[in-house]
Amino acid sequence: MSRTPAPDLRLADSAFLKAARGEPVPHTPVWYMRQAGRSLPEYLKVREGVGMLESCMDAALTTEITLQPVRRYGVDAAVFFSDIVLPLKAVGVDLDIKPGIGPVVAEPVRTLADVEAIPDLTPEHVPFITEAVQALVRELGGTPLLGFAGAPFTVASYLVEGGPSKEHARTKAMMFGAPDVWDALMRKIAGIAAAFLEVQVRAGASAVQLFDSWAGALTPADYVEHVQRHSARVLAQIGELGVPRIHFGVGTSNLLGHLGDAGADIVGVDWRTPLADAIERVGDRGVQGNLDPTLVFAPTEVMTARAAEVIEAGRAAKGHVFNLGHGVIPSTDPDQLKRLTEFVQSYPLG
Ligand code: CP3
Repeated sequence: MSRTPAPDLRLADSAFLKAARGEPVPHTPVWYMRQAGRSLPEYLKVREGVGMLESCMDAALTTEITLQPVRRYGVDAAVFFSDIVLPLKAVGVDLDIKPGIGPVVAEPVRTLADVEAIPDLTPEHVPFITEAVQALVRELGGTPLLGFAGAPFTVASYLVEGGPSKEHARTKAMMFGAPDVWDALMRKIAGIAAAFLEVQVRAGASAVQLFDSWAGALTPADYVEHVQRHSARVLAQIGELGVPRIHFGVGTSNLLGHLGDAGADIVGVDWRTPLADAIERVGDRGVQGNLDPTLVFAPTEVMTARAAEVIEAGRAAKGHVFNLGHGVIPSTDPDQLKRLTEFVQSYPLG
């Protein structure tokens, strides 16, 4: 068993971690959600004939795929290649990730007995994660590695619906109609998410992102009543390890303050909310985002003009990490993303 490497001395001075701490930065740091994956030809090549979950459980492959966008784009952070449902798979939930569809769960969770049948996660369930993170931290040197997990509401949606859902109707029916089952399920997932993040941080990840991608389906009152405390528990447990925490959801314009209050250092913002408005809503926290992911299909000068607006708006924040407002769209031209990265990193802040 290899050991967690001592932290690289350059990490503390990286633009990403400075922004996360709200300190002055040499340039606006930039990385992209879903930077590793389907838009890269070198990704498609190494994934040939290998299933998505299989690749997430192969430390050498995970390491290679995580490094690919760092090599190609020179982004300011690597995001660990995995998936929000991987920890469930690791504890024995029967699920698969189907190409073009997403996570599919064989036996959806509907009762208290279903919840209680899901084991808690221990580091022994995910030795390949520890191994991959340790290898990555060595390879990445001064570039921070961002670990991640799915937040309880978003993961619950896959477990209860049995697959991707637009309305999250069964999930919300459980939330509104069976509060005891809901509470048990959210506690179960929060414990698994926190344990999964803790494995990544103890193996050397410099920061984490909690993805509550589908939280935008909730009213602010329902978010606060039924969801927030569970995400807060995950973020509090990781806060004790001393690493910055990013909290992100899609369509969360009216939830941004609550996402921050759940215990984030940085709130991720999708492209629908002007960054200036988001900064007001999150108070004394940093922001991440938020260029519309379709702008990479526009002429380069249109894309960079809009990126400049995002950077300028971000200067009012306690810290700003540049990103797209959601994941990289699979048909994105990698050369255009490279131009965007260079533009953001060379944009003068003086
Ligand atoms: O950001 C990265 O580059 C790191 C890797 C990463 C993946 N999934 C790899 C992946 C991350 C951070 C995720 C998180 C994730 N997974 C989220 C939250 C982020 C978000 O997009 O809001 C969600 C909701 C999932 C669930 C999931 N897994 C979906 C919706 C899909 C896409 C289905 C499809 O193919 O359209 C997946 C599969 C998945 N996860 C792929 C990748 C690279 C594609 C699978 C493949 O290449 O075969």
